[in-house]
Amino acid sequence: MNYKIALIRGDGIGPEVVDEAVKVMLAVGEKFGHSFTFEDVLMGGCAIDAVGKSYPEGTAEKCRACDAVLLGAVGGPKWGHSSEADKRPETALLSIRRDLGLYANLRPAALRPALAEACPLKKETAERGIDLMIVRELTGGIYFGRRERYQTQDRGEEAADRMAYSQMEIERIGRRAFELARLRRGKLASVDKANVLETSRLWRSVMHRLAEEYADVQYEDVLVDNAAMQLVRDPGQFDVVVTENMFGDILSDEASMITGSIGLLPSASIGDQAPGLYEPIHGSAPDIAGQDKANPIATILSVAMMFRYSFRLAGEAQAIEGAVDAVLTEGWRTADLARPGEAAVGTARMGELIREKI
Ligand code: IPM
Ligand code: MG
Repeated sequence: MNYKIALIRGDGIGPEVVDEAVKVMLAVGEKFGHSFTFEDVLMGGCAIDAVGKSYPEGTAEKCRACDAVLLGAVGGPKWGHSSEADKRPETALLSIRRDLGLYANLRPAALRPALAEACPLKKETAERGIDLMIVRELTGGIYFGRRERYQTQDRGEEAADRMAYSQMEIERIGRRAFELARLRRGKLASVDKANVLETSRLWRSVMHRLAEEYADVQYEDVLVDNAAMQLVRDPGQFDVVVTENMFGDILSDEASMITGSIGLLPSASIGDQAPGLYEPIHGSAPDIAGQDKANPIATILSVAMMFRYSFRLAGEAQAIEGAVDAVLTEGWRTADLARPGEAAVGTARMGELIREKI
């Protein structure tokens, strides 16, 4: 089978980590008998430099013509926070999520056995294991509500961001989360702020209706402040965690750090139709760009998610994940994972080591 993949290399370390992930994909293809056609898609800060806007016309169409999208990272201080939306790299990210209908963002955070010592939590906590999946709603809420700025009579300028959720949006992300919980350890925590927010009270009522339907899943409500605390106190209690867009943004960075490094964690953004979009959860790290220092593992594991969720090729996904674990078990580390005084390998070498195991 031939798969067509859109590559959004993006900014900063994006191009170098995508290159390693592409080579891993080719190695998997050779082993399992798949071929790939790659289509480069320009998006982010590099697109601002090249054509004057971060999300050039035709970006979504180009991606839609592919079976899946692999994205490195977009953004960087070079492009600041321009007041013109199409001069901000982040606008492109939000636009592609919206245009491809990618409402479900899956962010797994697992402590890999070889890296238990990299976990910043207490030893007893790390020993209990961490293996959770954050399911973040990605196309609604405050990220996509109306934004305003206006003058008030007596309080100077004021700004407002609207947060809205419909039953439909909550139900479809809820179903995804319950289905995933069934495939994992059968537990789901829904995170909200129902003691304050109306959107959360609607969220909770929809989740409760679904919980009756998915009676085999062990369901609980967790308030977001408590969830942030539980993630560092006892993360082993969580299996699948479902939450709205902004809470998911924040909690997924927290979850990534307790597994040792943000350089390890992949993500998948999916909707009801192909293509899904796969990307590391880290950013563009401009401070180390182009120096062969970045950790390519998060992007390589994003390719594993692509095989699993877009192509339904679980064996291929496991081959990649197994290769990553094998390389880490042998003690190979990129700079972000190395302890003081420990030798580190570069981006390209880490990619090569993983391919050798495949
Ligand atoms: C993420 C990022 C983005 C987000 C930014 C870059 C717009 O932090 O994917 O988590 O907030 O969604
Ligand atoms: Mg984020």
